[in-house]
Amino acid sequence: MDSLKAHALPPPEGVCPAPQGSFKTLEDAYFLGYVPRVVSLVCVKDNPLAVAWHMPLNKKPFLYAVALAKENHSHLLAQEGADFTVNFLPFEYLWDIITAGSHHGNQENKWDLFKDIKPVKALKVDALMVDQALLIYECKREVFISFPDHSLLVGKVELIHYKRGRLKVSKVKYPLHMGKNYFSKNSRTYIYKR
Ligand SMILES: Cc1cc2nc3c(=O)[nH]c(=O)nc-3n(C[C@H](O)[C@H](O)[C@H](O)COP(=O)(O)O)c2cc1C
Repeated sequence: MDSLKAHALPPPEGVCPAPQGSFKTLEDAYFLGYVPRVVSLVCVKDNPLAVAWHMPLNKKPFLYAVALAKENHSHLLAQEGADFTVNFLPFEYLWDIITAGSHHGNQENKWDLFKDIKPVKALKVDALMVDQALLIYECKREVFISFPDHSLLVGKVELIHYKRGRLKVSKVKYPLHMGKNYFSKNSRTYIYKR
């Protein structure tokens, strides 16, 4: 705990800018800097894909952002103006999440490939969502920003669905993507008290 507090203070005088020897440096190797990220199942209109690069962006209005690679079919749908849903599934559905993340919706209907998950229609936006999800954001497309290989799709969260009693922090186990083919799940909850 003391070391956490120490980091909140400005560095003492005379600290070297780059600690020589203790860090290695890399360029162009984003996977080596990969930290665990909850992998969600995003449906862009009717098309599901796995997405690890997603985040809340604003509280009021509640905005949510996902990064879509340009080679994905979902990118084309988003470019055409599609709404989307962000579906948070527990770890037990990892197989279907990986299926969504390894097939393309313009070549196959992924809903026929899934083992355990089923689609339902969103209530406020024109997209499907996943019946087995514990938490779902229905997002109306708000902003679409193009970068060299990904685009940022930002949606206004119009409605949040959640399964009562299933989101307790001490219980819920989401699939954490660790980069490449590695996954993990949170095993224990720690309470931090100051
Ligand atoms: C664990 C995991 C995380 C992924 N994260 C993203 C992501 O953040 N953004 C993205 O565009 N694709 C991501 N993908 C890849 C897409 O899910 C994958 O390319 C999918 O086949 C695209 O489907 P589509 O062509 O039907 O859109 C991820 C895949 C996996 C397995």
